[in-house]
Amino acid sequence: MDLRASLVLITASLLFSVAKACSNGDCKLLDPCSSDGDCQAGLYCFSCPLEFSGRRCVRSTTTNQFKLLNNTLPFNKYAFLTTHNAYAIEGEPSHTGVPRITFTNQEDNITQQLNNGVRSLMLDTYDFQGDVWLCHSYGGKCYDVTAFEPAIDTLKEIEAFLSANPTEIVTVILEDYVQAPKGLTKVFTDAGLIKYWFPLKNMPKNGQDWPLVSDMVANNQRLLVFTSIMSKEESEGIAYQWNYMVENQYGDGGMHAGNCPNRTESSPLDDRTKSLVLVNYFPTIPFKQIACEHNSANLINMLHTCFGAAGNRWANFVAVNFYKRSDGGGAFQALDTLNGELLCGCDDVHACVN
Ligand SMILES: *[C@@H]1O[C@H](CO)[C@@H](O)[C@H](O)[C@H]1NC(C)=O
Ligand SMILES: *[C@@H]1O[C@H](CO)[C@@H](O)[C@H](O)[C@H]1NC(C)=O
Ligand SMILES: *[C@@H]1O[C@H](CO)[C@@H](O)[C@H](O)[C@H]1NC(C)=O
Repeated sequence: MDLRASLVLITASLLFSVAKACSNGDCKLLDPCSSDGDCQAGLYCFSCPLEFSGRRCVRSTTTNQFKLLNNTLPFNKYAFLTTHNAYAIEGEPSHTGVPRITFTNQEDNITQQLNNGVRSLMLDTYDFQGDVWLCHSYGGKCYDVTAFEPAIDTLKEIEAFLSANPTEIVTVILEDYVQAPKGLTKVFTDAGLIKYWFPLKNMPKNGQDWPLVSDMVANNQRLLVFTSIMSKEESEGIAYQWNYMVENQYGDGGMHAGNCPNRTESSPLDDRTKSLVLVNYFPTIPFKQIACEHNSANLINMLHTCFGAAGNRWANFVAVNFYKRSDGGGAFQALDTLNGELLCGCDDVHACVN
């Protein structure tokens, strides 16, 4: 190639990249970017090497279905983004003085998760150091090396969010190992969350619709808590999850395309005496480098599979790891699809606006 031709080429490619470049908050979904600030609101600059080269703007927030449409339908007519092991956050300092040796499942703190539209948190609660702690542990026991933080810290973040956002509802799903009598009641009380408690007696037990979200908001009953310990319904008035919800297998067993088996504790997915449906979609070992692929098209495919398995019911909750990682729309698009299907039979909630 002669010099002239090279110059033309270089000039052309410079022009091309200048023409293509966006910055200062005007880059759209999947546009190349170099920092979060380049991307439009609701997007951030992210690299998913499995799906595209370089960094591009991908979604970082949900569409608020209540604000886009309205909140006048029963709670079970909406879908909510759920973070699996919401408390197992990368970079969380040790609170025991002993370095932690365990996996993490999320990167944002609880406040950021809630601000980005997460509305359901999966937390593992343990008796530890005379208190309730959140641990990523085994054998039902928390250790210094598996302890994340005292539950009260996380619950106070939820309290702050509910207090600052008086029309939002948060669901907490506990894998519960707390044996201390009224241990959970105490920590929820100490965190100031009892004032938002949705009472057990208003939860439908035979597949009926839930109360209207607008009524839940008007009554300020905006915190739903489910435990995995059956006896706590009787002893503490805390809902036993499996009386109200069906759930598919979590971990690797829930990631086989075309299959949506119930997890052991759950009734079969098509049991319509439970009005809420939760879909788990994350591998047993949380590798964040591949989470962007899991949280993309494969997730939406699984939602369709689980719709069939649940007797033609769309999921109300979708639980993922590293919720903001995707190749574009990710878990946020999955939620738009679910809310669209639930609210108007469309594959995106934006299509419900007329
Ligand atoms: C959560 O993270 C944000 C951003 O780093 C930070 O400003 C905020 O203080 C954190 N909140 C808590 C409760 O850790
Ligand atoms: C599905 O539920 C049944 C009981 O209803 C249980 O015996 C079975 O183990 C569950 N299936 C799976 C795959 O966990
Ligand atoms: C609320 O939104 C749903 C879904 O789009 C719609 O069917 C319903 O009519 C709306 N209700 C009100 C009161 O606007």
